[in-house]
Amino acid sequence: MRAAICPGSFDPPTNGHLNIIERGIRIFDRLIVAVAVNMSKEPIFSAEERAAMLREIFANHPKIEIDFFDGLLAEYARKRKIHRILRGIRTMSDYEYEFQMALANKTLYPELEIIFLMTEGRYTHLSSSIIKDVVRHGGRAAEMIHPLVEQQLRAKLCRKEWA
Ligand code: COA
Repeated sequence: MRAAICPGSFDPPTNGHLNIIERGIRIFDRLIVAVAVNMSKEPIFSAEERAAMLREIFANHPKIEIDFFDGLLAEYARKRKIHRILRGIRTMSDYEYEFQMALANKTLYPELEIIFLMTEGRYTHLSSSIIKDVVRHGGRAAEMIHPLVEQQLRAKLCRKEWA
């Protein structure tokens, strides 16, 4: 069985992420979407909340599993006995970052193969931070995120503003 891990912070998942995952399941028999528990950036959603959104969105996709990982991605892949990582690339700056990460991951786990999909043009400008900003300022994010994500993001940001 051809399995791969699609890791990310998904804070929150964008339509760009969903597009990579949907295209990924056409390539692999099984895709483990792995939510990073500890990130360099302070997340707005807990790992459980991020995973719950992805679980609901992909509830009808038996080939997709949603999981968490804490610590090194290479160690998680080794533990799961999966040696393929799927990532999306939007821009040249993504490329440089991904290139470094891929080399570091390969040093840690030489059997690992990192497969990149080019993000579709209509998603190249998207990022979780931009979307948070749009929603925070009352903009429409319908074309950028799944309706479930938009609803949760609005609820989260409104609660935060009043806290
Ligand atoms: N379309 C649109 N936006 C996309 C996208 C796509 N296809 N792919 C990524 N993005 C955006 C995200 O929205 C996010 O935006 P933000 O910076 O505003 O939050 C950004 O690009 C990157 O997010 P994401 O793809 O979710 O991953 P990440 O870069 O935050 O996380 C990990 C990368 C978690 C895989 C990586 O840090 C990791 O493996 N960490 C574990 C520790 C480790 O092993 N480190 C490596 C050792 S070298």
